[in-house]
Amino acid sequence: MTSPTFGDLLEQRLSRRQVLSAGAALAPLAAVPALFNAGVAFADSPKLGFTAIAASGKDAIALPPGYTYDIVARWGDSLFSKVPDLDASKLAQGVLLEANAAELQRSWFGQNCDAIHFFPFDGKGDRGILCVNNEYTDDALMYPGHPGFDGAVSGKGREYVRQHPQLVNVSIAATGVSVIEVACEQGRWRMVKDSRFNRRITADTPMQIRGPARGAALMRTHADPDGIAALGTFGNCAGGETPWGTYLTAEENIQDYFGNFAALQARKDVDAHIVEAHRCWRLWKQHSLYGWENVHARFDLAQEPCEPFRFGWIVEIDPRDPTRAPVKRTALGRFAHEGASPVVAPDGRIAVYMGDDDKFEYVYKFISSGRFDAKNPGANRDLLDAGTLHVARFDASGSGQWLPLVYDEKGPLNAAAGFRNQAEVLIKARAAAYVLGATPMDRPEDVEANPTTGRIYIACTRNDSREPQATPRAYSGREIDRGPNAANPRGRNLYGHIIEIREAGDDHTSLGFSWEVFILAGDPRRGRLITSIAELQSGKVGSEDTYFAGYTKAADISAIGSPDNIGFDIAGNLWIVTDGTQPQELNDGCWACPTTGPERGKLQRFMSAPVGAEVCGVQFTPDNTTLFFSIQHPGENGSVDAPKSHWPDGGNSQPRSSVIAVRRTDGGKVGS
Ligand code: FEO
Ligand code: CA
Ligand code: CA
Repeated sequence: MTSPTFGDLLEQRLSRRQVLSAGAALAPLAAVPALFNAGVAFADSPKLGFTAIAASGKDAIALPPGYTYDIVARWGDSLFSKVPDLDASKLAQGVLLEANAAELQRSWFGQNCDAIHFFPFDGKGDRGILCVNNEYTDDALMYPGHPGFDGAVSGKGREYVRQHPQLVNVSIAATGVSVIEVACEQGRWRMVKDSRFNRRITADTPMQIRGPARGAALMRTHADPDGIAALGTFGNCAGGETPWGTYLTAEENIQDYFGNFAALQARKDVDAHIVEAHRCWRLWKQHSLYGWENVHARFDLAQEPCEPFRFGWIVEIDPRDPTRAPVKRTALGRFAHEGASPVVAPDGRIAVYMGDDDKFEYVYKFISSGRFDAKNPGANRDLLDAGTLHVARFDASGSGQWLPLVYDEKGPLNAAAGFRNQAEVLIKARAAAYVLGATPMDRPEDVEANPTTGRIYIACTRNDSREPQATPRAYSGREIDRGPNAANPRGRNLYGHIIEIREAGDDHTSLGFSWEVFILAGDPRRGRLITSIAELQSGKVGSEDTYFAGYTKAADISAIGSPDNIGFDIAGNLWIVTDGTQPQELNDGCWACPTTGPERGKLQRFMSAPVGAEVCGVQFTPDNTTLFFSIQHPGENGSVDAPKSHWPDGGNSQPRSSVIAVRRTDGGKVGS
């Protein structure tokens, strides 16, 4: 078969667009029949039934009329009645610098909540376990006089840590994951203190290392000469849940926890291969962001050069068995993992979709070797230890390929390319993906499957370093073309975009796919509102131009920037939460739109967050009557001494990151 021309493919994609807009059956894409051979009919996503709210700059949660919310857990709320809660009114007096603070924090809900996954007890959703990530600590919001992240870079943070070394163990205890039982009683959600499921997993909780990198030379340290067990998890951003009922937490910005890379580079006695293996991570030459290296040698690269290789993984946690240690699943690769979304393929294998959230990094998919057995949960326990990791290449034709990250002396990932075995391919996944020709993206965050259509959505949050013209330049240890590409069409991508993928044959184990831009974020009342794929691909896309899946009425669309986590309701509507730059320079929040039917792409703002907060989580109960959000870093860039938010407690209180549960006052389904 001769290859289709770009025009052929574009025409076919356009006809698919028209079919999708009409909400009828998907037409097969005949030009590549081996790949796109399934015509699948979908019911339209029902129209969303809430009244869109306006952008807000208020220090409060805003919701549509008829909605309310409960605070489920705040940073510092104790999981156990024998341990008192944090008295946040004493933060300015240094309560977290007292000798017992780390011990207390080990029983408190952690700081800066991120991913939320709900594991219901009864399938209905008024009681269950929440697994919540606590991504990092905002030290200026914990310790009086702390100079914050800017101070860390200048060295003031190190001085503060040297004066108050006890804070490091408090921060270590405030980071990681909180597992809590929650219940809705008399119409209000609350944390169930003293539940046998309640536990904190922190940045020094012992965990196993499994999969191909277990025991690898790069995984060995003084404390763990066999390379089989790590202490803790941190940078826990988004996550996922497996079909067998476990939680996946994603280690993202792990580079910020290690200091003194310049001193490691100066050491002549260290294997050059170790230093080279750090090449694609922008490690801190001197002071790390958190200063932990001043207290614990394992965070000092000059003293423990291989410790960072034990982070940057997906970690599996069994929420129903607090005695089981978390497990780092190295088969899923090492990068700045935003999240991990498992899907069961038609033949029972598991596909796990993942983004690497950094500028010009990649989108990945792991495919398990073994098959999911719904009747025998124990048999699924180690499914994520064997399989093949792939990385995405998006072609201008609108098709794409998943490229395998497999060590092979006869293939591209061999010793000459710097990979001595499969463990090193996985530990250095970024370098391997680069060798394979993967497409550098605009910070791929959450990657999720729509449960009603099987299509995959990738939130690329933004990339202000993407340039208008082809600009090959050294970046993060590779030569990267910073110019636009078909899947990242903006010269400067200030507001981000969302890509929609359809796997060949609607099979999640396929290695070919079709893709298109679903949303090019921004304010549709600024720049051009692009309404067709052809126009979107016609040439330059301005940084203020927008696209909302072909939806044509700008006045109906709520402006959005910086999509981060995404989720779906049971009708298949897409829900998006944001982190960062908004076109109206107001607060982050939550938006929703249908993915099929005549209102596909009609994006509506559902929620606005308090000042300085990003929104994470976006997790529905199975009956869709509750929607959980994490409100992360309210009052960001403020300090204990000069707070910029007083949410959630109001008055003159300190801001506290918290999980909230949003419900309709009439008990109906959220969004409908
Ligand atoms: Fe932690 Fe990619 O957001
Ligand atoms: Ca995120
Ligand atoms: Ca983000």
